[in-house]
Amino acid sequence: MEPHTTFATADLDATNCYKLLTGLVTPRPIGWIGTKGADGIDNLAPYSFFNAISAEPPTVLFSVGIGHHVKDSAANAVASGEFTVNIVTDETVEAMNVTAGEHPPHISEFDVAGLTPLPSTLIDAPRVAEATAQLECRVSDVHDIVSSNGEASNRVIFGEVVAIHVADRVLDGTRIRPDLLRSIGRMAGSGYTKTGDGLFQLERPTV
Ligand SMILES: Cc1cc2nc3c(=O)[nH]c(=O)nc-3n(C[C@H](O)[C@H](O)[C@H](O)COP(=O)(O)O)c2cc1C
Repeated sequence: MEPHTTFATADLDATNCYKLLTGLVTPRPIGWIGTKGADGIDNLAPYSFFNAISAEPPTVLFSVGIGHHVKDSAANAVASGEFTVNIVTDETVEAMNVTAGEHPPHISEFDVAGLTPLPSTLIDAPRVAEATAQLECRVSDVHDIVSSNGEASNRVIFGEVVAIHVADRVLDGTRIRPDLLRSIGRMAGSGYTKTGDGLFQLERPTV
């Protein structure tokens, strides 16, 4: 075995632990989360502690750091019970980055990034009209992760997907053409990876 370094996470500070974890668990999908505030302001922000975790019922989750303050996406999703997930691709990655700015709740990141809020069909949260695909979600569970000091560090929001919208140009029936979707993955920090090139197939063993 090649030489390895072992880190006991109890001996690491939070930043180093975060850097190791997010540098290794890569690439991470990006949930570009659309919510509506109680004041009617459309909110949009990216979350890469995000994934799809079940198909029956179709379920996604995203995890929001709430150490300093509860971010708008978490506050809005919990209060309204709804959010959208917008898929980030080559075409929208720059705009996605703009929406990561820490804007106060009365500022809509749609306006800041020059994006068009599109009404959902089954819920009230906004979709990104420019996104190649969008999921409409109803909050199905909320779970707080508690750190060693006893305080909640992250709020995990689970959502049941109630509608899936996909641009026809990347669809083959109910299958997605990954070479045409070209979704973006997040590496660590400000690093990203493209998925259009380097795709390959690996058939599973039959036994
Ligand atoms: C690609 C990317 C992924 C991010 N993932 C997360 C995440 O998983 N959890 C989190 O709390 N913040 C994450 N952030 C930071 C939030 O997007 C940022 O704090 C944003 O301002 C939150 O906006 P909101 O208050 O409108 O929800 C991420 C930022 C970027 C650029």
